[in-house]
Amino acid sequence: MSLSPDAPPSPGTLRLAAVGDLHVGETAQHPYRELFARISQEAEVLALCGDLTNFGKTAEAEILAEDLQACRIPVVGVLGNHDYECGQPQEVARILHQAGVKLLDGEAYEIEGIGFAGGKGFIGGYGRNMLSAFGEPAIKAFVQAAVDENLKLETSLRMLKTARTVVVLHYSPIAETLEGEPPEIFPFLGSARMGETIDRFDGVRCVLHGHAHSGVYEGRTPGGVPVYNVARPVLKRRFDAEFALFDI
Ligand SMILES: [Fe+2]
Ligand SMILES: [Fe+2]
Repeated sequence: MSLSPDAPPSPGTLRLAAVGDLHVGETAQHPYRELFARISQEAEVLALCGDLTNFGKTAEAEILAEDLQACRIPVVGVLGNHDYECGQPQEVARILHQAGVKLLDGEAYEIEGIGFAGGKGFIGGYGRNMLSAFGEPAIKAFVQAAVDENLKLETSLRMLKTARTVVVLHYSPIAETLEGEPPEIFPFLGSARMGETIDRFDGVRCVLHGHAHSGVYEGRTPGGVPVYNVARPVLKRRFDAEFALFDI
């Protein structure tokens, strides 16, 4: 659950800040410089949950990279669908990587003894009604994209031998944190495949995602792992906060 910045740190834990959906625009002037400086004082690691830029433009990524210079703690992150819009996610990733962001896309990182796994994830729906690979080649390709993204998540989780792990995603692994979004678009906001994968691994302390701007903050995987939607508008509505804080 999210902590207030003045909550005393629990001994033996790592204080993690998280936020998604920064949506940096190309005309923004240092939109997050002060925020990153503040986060650096209040947390030991920052997790960014995708949609870091509005359209995945080089100029947008460069504005974010410049503001990230104010961040003096390790940053892990994933890209979101908006970071793909211009068709050059690898360029956005390169700029953010150069700015020091450890991007998760099938990789895993260990920071201060805590494992970080994850990736962008993908859509496809939940439960009995999850889209399956049947019929036209386009449907099969769509489902394959969801399976491939989920395999990256699985690979990253398998790499870790840490007792405590945090999963960082853009799309939601559960439907619960989507409440407030139109039910018609739930299948386009995430996929239960990811939740099922997460539940097969021990030691996952929490899952962080973004994307569902009108969703709710808190939910759980079917196996009971806490899931937090840290999309910026959600944090603003629920806590009037710019980021969430956790002791992991
Ligand atoms: Fe977003
Ligand atoms: Fe998104």
